[in-house]
Amino acid sequence: MSVEGDGRTGELLRLVGVSRLFHAGSHVVTALQEIHLSVRQTEFVSIMGPSGSGKSTLLNILGGLDAPTSGKYWLQGREIGGLPDRELARVRNRHFGYVFQNYNLFPELTALENVEVPMIYAGVGRRERRRRATVLLEQVGLGARLHHRPAELSGGEQQRVAIARALANGPTVLLADEPTGNLPSNQARQIMELLTRLNRQGMTVIVVTHDPSVAACGQRLISLRDGRIVADEAITGTSDVAARVAQLEGVSL
Ligand SMILES: Nc1ncnc2c1ncn2[C@@H]1O[C@H](COP(=O)(O)OP(=O)(O)OP(=O)(O)O)[C@@H](O)[C@H]1O
Ligand SMILES: [Mg+2]
Repeated sequence: MSVEGDGRTGELLRLVGVSRLFHAGSHVVTALQEIHLSVRQTEFVSIMGPSGSGKSTLLNILGGLDAPTSGKYWLQGREIGGLPDRELARVRNRHFGYVFQNYNLFPELTALENVEVPMIYAGVGRRERRRRATVLLEQVGLGARLHHRPAELSGGEQQRVAIARALANGPTVLLADEPTGNLPSNQARQIMELLTRLNRQGMTVIVVTHDPSVAACGQRLISLRDGRIVADEAITGTSDVAARVAQLEGVSL
Protein backbone atom coordinates (compact mmCIF):
# COMPACT_ATOMS: atom_id res chain seq x y z
CA MET A 1 0.00 0.00 0.00
CA SER A 2 1.27 3.48 -0.74
CA VAL A 3 2.02 5.90 2.07
CA GLU A 4 -0.80 8.16 0.92
CA GLY A 5 -3.41 5.73 2.11
CA ASP A 6 -5.73 3.79 -0.09
CA GLY A 7 -9.50 4.02 -0.26
CA ARG A 8 -9.74 0.36 -1.20
CA THR A 9 -8.30 -0.71 2.16
CA GLY A 10 -10.95 1.29 4.00
CA GLU A 11 -8.46 3.81 5.31
CA LEU A 12 -10.25 7.10 5.72
CA LEU A 13 -7.64 9.44 7.08
CA ARG A 14 -3.97 9.42 7.85
CA LEU A 15 -1.67 11.77 9.68
CA VAL A 16 2.06 11.34 9.26
CA GLY A 17 4.49 13.19 11.53
CA VAL A 18 2.00 15.93 12.36
CA SER A 19 3.10 18.64 14.77
CA ARG A 20 1.28 21.81 15.77
CA LEU A 21 3.09 24.67 17.43
CA PHE A 22 1.43 27.78 18.81
CA HIS A 23 3.32 31.02 19.29
CA ALA A 24 2.11 32.62 22.49
CA GLY A 25 4.00 35.88 22.99
CA SER A 26 7.70 35.08 23.15
CA HIS A 27 7.36 31.37 23.78
CA VAL A 28 6.23 28.43 21.71
CA VAL A 29 3.69 25.83 22.83
CA THR A 30 4.02 22.43 21.22
CA ALA A 31 0.40 21.27 21.24
CA LEU A 32 1.05 18.20 19.07
CA GLN A 33 4.30 16.40 18.40
CA GLU A 34 4.98 13.91 15.59
CA ILE A 35 1.52 12.39 15.47
CA HIS A 36 1.12 9.28 13.32
CA LEU A 37 -2.46 8.14 13.03
CA SER A 38 -4.57 6.17 10.62
CA VAL A 39 -8.35 5.83 10.95
CA ARG A 40 -10.41 3.39 8.92
CA GLN A 41 -13.93 3.86 7.65
CA THR A 42 -16.65 2.95 10.18
CA GLU A 43 -14.28 3.00 13.17
CA PHE A 44 -15.39 4.60 16.44
CA VAL A 45 -12.25 6.16 17.92
CA SER A 46 -12.12 7.71 21.39
CA ILE A 47 -9.41 10.22 22.28
CA MET A 48 -8.51 10.85 25.91
CA GLY A 49 -5.77 12.62 27.82
CA PRO A 50 -5.23 15.23 30.52
CA SER A 51 -6.27 18.84 30.01
CA GLY A 52 -3.84 20.55 27.65
CA SER A 53 -2.57 17.28 26.14
CA GLY A 54 -3.62 18.31 22.62
CA LYS A 55 -6.98 16.54 22.16
CA SER A 56 -8.90 19.50 20.72
CA THR A 57 -5.92 20.51 18.60
CA LEU A 58 -5.81 16.99 17.15
CA LEU A 59 -9.56 16.94 16.48
CA ASN A 60 -9.42 20.38 14.85
CA ILE A 61 -6.64 19.24 12.53
CA LEU A 62 -8.49 16.03 11.69
CA GLY A 63 -11.57 18.10 10.83
CA GLY A 64 -9.68 20.61 8.68
CA LEU A 65 -10.47 23.45 11.10
CA ASP A 66 -6.76 23.91 11.81
CA ALA A 67 -3.61 23.06 9.87
CA PRO A 68 -0.48 21.27 11.07
CA THR A 69 2.72 23.28 11.48
CA SER A 70 4.52 20.32 9.93
CA GLY A 71 3.63 16.83 8.80
CA LYS A 72 1.10 15.53 6.32
CA TYR A 73 -2.60 14.75 6.24
CA TRP A 74 -4.42 12.54 3.76
CA LEU A 75 -8.17 12.15 3.56
CA GLN A 76 -9.34 9.24 1.42
CA GLY A 77 -5.95 9.10 -0.23
CA ARG A 78 -5.88 12.82 -1.06
CA GLU A 79 -3.44 15.11 0.63
CA ILE A 80 -5.36 18.01 2.14
CA GLY A 81 -2.51 19.62 4.08
CA GLY A 82 -1.63 22.22 1.50
CA LEU A 83 -5.06 22.92 -0.01
CA PRO A 84 -6.09 26.53 -0.58
CA ASP A 85 -8.71 27.85 1.87
CA ARG A 86 -11.66 27.61 -0.52
CA GLU A 87 -10.89 24.02 -1.42
CA LEU A 88 -10.36 23.13 2.23
CA ALA A 89 -13.75 24.67 3.06
CA ARG A 90 -15.31 22.41 0.42
CA VAL A 91 -13.62 19.36 1.96
CA ARG A 92 -14.90 20.39 5.40
CA ASN A 93 -18.49 20.82 4.23
CA ARG A 94 -18.49 17.60 2.31
CA HIS A 95 -16.74 15.28 4.77
CA PHE A 96 -17.01 16.50 8.35
CA GLY A 97 -19.78 16.92 10.86
CA TYR A 98 -18.76 18.71 14.06
CA VAL A 99 -20.23 18.46 17.53
CA PHE A 100 -18.95 20.66 20.35
CA GLN A 101 -19.34 20.72 24.12
CA ASN A 102 -21.40 23.93 24.02
CA TYR A 103 -23.71 22.81 21.18
CA ASN A 104 -23.08 26.09 19.29
CA LEU A 105 -26.71 26.40 18.17
CA PHE A 106 -28.15 29.69 16.91
CA PRO A 107 -30.33 30.85 19.83
CA GLU A 108 -32.83 32.71 17.65
CA LEU A 109 -33.45 29.77 15.32
CA THR A 110 -35.72 26.79 15.95
CA ALA A 111 -34.36 23.23 16.07
CA LEU A 112 -35.51 22.74 12.48
CA GLU A 113 -33.88 25.96 11.28
CA ASN A 114 -30.63 25.14 13.08
CA VAL A 115 -30.41 21.80 11.30
CA GLU A 116 -31.16 23.53 7.98
CA VAL A 117 -28.24 25.97 8.24
CA PRO A 118 -25.48 23.74 6.79
CA MET A 119 -27.83 22.76 3.95
CA ILE A 120 -28.31 26.43 3.05
CA TYR A 121 -24.52 26.68 2.61
CA ALA A 122 -24.59 23.50 0.54
CA GLY A 123 -27.24 25.00 -1.77
CA VAL A 124 -30.08 22.61 -0.89
CA GLY A 125 -33.53 24.00 -1.78
CA ARG A 126 -35.94 25.16 0.92
CA ARG A 127 -38.45 22.35 0.70
CA GLU A 128 -35.80 19.62 0.61
CA ARG A 129 -33.97 21.26 3.53
CA ARG A 130 -37.08 21.20 5.63
CA ARG A 131 -37.81 17.60 4.73
CA ARG A 132 -34.28 16.40 5.54
CA ALA A 133 -34.06 18.42 8.76
CA THR A 134 -37.36 16.93 9.91
CA VAL A 135 -36.16 13.38 9.22
CA LEU A 136 -32.85 14.01 11.01
CA LEU A 137 -34.56 15.45 14.08
CA GLU A 138 -36.92 12.48 14.15
CA GLN A 139 -33.89 10.18 13.99
CA VAL A 140 -32.36 11.82 17.07
CA GLY A 141 -35.68 11.53 18.91
CA LEU A 142 -36.78 15.15 18.60
CA GLY A 143 -39.70 14.84 16.22
CA ALA A 144 -41.87 16.57 18.83
CA ARG A 145 -39.46 19.49 19.31
CA LEU A 146 -39.05 20.79 15.75
CA HIS A 147 -40.17 24.34 16.49
CA HIS A 148 -38.48 24.79 19.86
CA ARG A 149 -35.65 27.26 20.22
CA PRO A 150 -32.46 26.18 22.06
CA ALA A 151 -33.52 27.94 25.29
CA GLU A 152 -36.68 25.80 25.28
CA LEU A 153 -34.68 22.54 25.10
CA SER A 154 -32.68 20.58 27.69
CA GLY A 155 -28.90 20.36 27.27
CA GLY A 156 -29.18 16.81 25.96
CA GLU A 157 -31.86 17.86 23.49
CA GLN A 158 -29.72 20.77 22.31
CA GLN A 159 -26.83 18.39 21.78
CA ARG A 160 -29.08 16.07 19.79
CA VAL A 161 -30.07 19.04 17.58
CA ALA A 162 -26.35 19.73 17.15
CA ILE A 163 -25.77 16.10 16.14
CA ALA A 164 -28.67 16.27 13.64
CA ARG A 165 -27.11 19.44 12.25
CA ALA A 166 -23.71 17.74 12.00
CA LEU A 167 -25.35 15.00 9.93
CA ALA A 168 -27.21 17.43 7.65
CA ASN A 169 -24.94 17.14 4.63
CA GLY A 170 -24.21 13.43 5.00
CA PRO A 171 -20.65 13.66 6.34
CA THR A 172 -18.03 10.95 6.02
CA VAL A 173 -16.96 11.35 9.63
CA LEU A 174 -18.51 12.77 12.77
CA LEU A 175 -16.09 14.62 15.07
CA ALA A 176 -17.17 15.38 18.61
CA ASP A 177 -15.20 17.37 21.21
CA GLU A 178 -16.47 16.62 24.74
CA PRO A 179 -20.05 16.11 23.49
CA THR A 180 -21.32 15.18 26.96
CA GLY A 181 -19.12 17.58 28.94
CA ASN A 182 -22.04 19.79 30.02
CA LEU A 183 -24.65 17.09 30.49
CA PRO A 184 -26.02 15.20 33.48
CA SER A 185 -25.38 11.46 33.24
CA ASN A 186 -28.85 10.42 32.03
CA GLN A 187 -28.69 12.88 29.12
CA ALA A 188 -25.06 11.96 28.45
CA ARG A 189 -26.13 8.34 28.12
CA GLN A 190 -28.64 9.25 25.41
CA ILE A 191 -25.90 11.02 23.46
CA MET A 192 -23.62 8.00 23.82
CA GLU A 193 -26.39 5.69 22.62
CA LEU A 194 -27.00 7.95 19.65
CA LEU A 195 -23.32 8.04 18.68
CA THR A 196 -23.13 4.26 19.06
CA ARG A 197 -26.20 3.77 16.87
CA LEU A 198 -24.84 6.10 14.18
CA ASN A 199 -21.57 4.16 14.22
CA ARG A 200 -23.43 0.84 13.87
CA GLN A 201 -25.18 2.34 10.85
CA GLY A 202 -21.76 2.92 9.30
CA MET A 203 -20.73 6.41 10.39
CA THR A 204 -17.08 6.91 11.32
CA VAL A 205 -17.01 8.60 14.74
CA ILE A 206 -14.11 10.30 16.51
CA VAL A 207 -14.83 11.53 20.03
CA VAL A 208 -12.69 13.50 22.46
CA THR A 209 -13.82 12.92 26.02
CA HIS A 210 -12.80 12.99 29.67
CA ASP A 211 -15.49 10.46 30.54
CA PRO A 212 -14.38 6.78 30.50
CA SER A 213 -17.95 5.59 29.95
CA VAL A 214 -18.19 7.76 26.82
CA ALA A 215 -14.78 6.58 25.60
CA ALA A 216 -15.83 2.96 26.18
CA CYS A 217 -18.51 3.36 23.46
CA GLY A 218 -15.63 3.32 20.97
CA GLN A 219 -13.68 0.36 19.65
CA ARG A 220 -10.32 2.07 19.91
CA LEU A 221 -8.75 4.37 22.47
CA ILE A 222 -6.05 6.87 21.62
CA SER A 223 -4.33 8.38 24.64
CA LEU A 224 -2.50 11.68 24.44
CA ARG A 225 -0.02 13.16 26.82
CA ASP A 226 2.01 16.33 26.23
CA GLY A 227 0.99 16.36 22.57
CA ARG A 228 2.08 12.80 21.86
CA ILE A 229 0.15 9.57 21.35
CA VAL A 230 1.25 7.42 24.28
CA ALA A 231 -1.17 4.54 23.69
CA ASP A 232 -3.36 3.34 20.82
CA GLU A 233 -5.31 0.23 21.76
CA ALA A 234 -8.52 -1.72 21.29
CA ILE A 235 -11.21 -1.08 23.90
CA THR A 236 -12.70 -4.10 25.60
CA GLY A 237 -14.60 -2.39 28.41
CA THR A 238 -15.02 0.62 30.68
CA SER A 239 -12.59 -0.70 33.27
CA ASP A 240 -9.52 -0.70 31.01
CA VAL A 241 -10.42 2.80 29.82
CA ALA A 242 -10.62 3.95 33.45
CA ALA A 243 -7.28 2.30 34.22
CA ARG A 244 -5.65 4.04 31.25
CA VAL A 245 -7.08 7.39 32.34
CA ALA A 246 -5.77 6.95 35.87
CA GLN A 247 -2.35 6.15 34.45
CA LEU A 248 -2.44 9.17 32.13
CA GLU A 249 -3.46 11.51 34.91
CA GLY A 250 -0.65 10.12 37.05
CA VAL A 251 -3.02 8.66 39.63
CA SER A 252 -1.95 5.39 41.20
CA LEU A 253 -4.69 2.77 41.35
N1 LIG B 1 -4.62 29.10 19.88
C1 LIG B 1 -3.71 28.72 20.78
N2 LIG B 1 -2.68 29.53 21.09
C2 LIG B 1 -1.72 29.15 21.98
N3 LIG B 1 -1.72 27.96 22.60
C3 LIG B 1 -2.73 27.11 22.35
C4 LIG B 1 -3.76 27.44 21.42
N4 LIG B 1 -4.63 26.40 21.37
C5 LIG B 1 -4.15 25.46 22.21
N5 LIG B 1 -3.02 25.89 22.80
C6 LIG B 1 -2.20 25.13 23.75
O1 LIG B 1 -1.94 23.85 23.21
C7 LIG B 1 -2.05 22.83 24.19
C8 LIG B 1 -3.09 21.81 23.78
O2 LIG B 1 -4.37 22.44 23.80
P1 LIG B 1 -5.73 21.63 23.52
O3 LIG B 1 -6.82 22.64 23.52
O4 LIG B 1 -5.56 20.81 22.30
O5 LIG B 1 -5.80 20.70 24.81
P2 LIG B 1 -6.95 19.67 25.25
O6 LIG B 1 -6.30 18.34 25.41
O7 LIG B 1 -8.10 19.77 24.31
O8 LIG B 1 -7.33 20.22 26.69
P3 LIG B 1 -8.78 20.24 27.44
O9 LIG B 1 -9.02 18.86 27.95
O10 LIG B 1 -8.56 21.21 28.55
O11 LIG B 1 -9.81 20.70 26.47
C9 LIG B 1 -2.36 23.56 25.49
O12 LIG B 1 -1.18 23.73 26.21
C10 LIG B 1 -2.93 24.88 25.06
O13 LIG B 1 -2.66 25.88 26.02
MG1 LIG C 1 -10.07 20.43 24.53
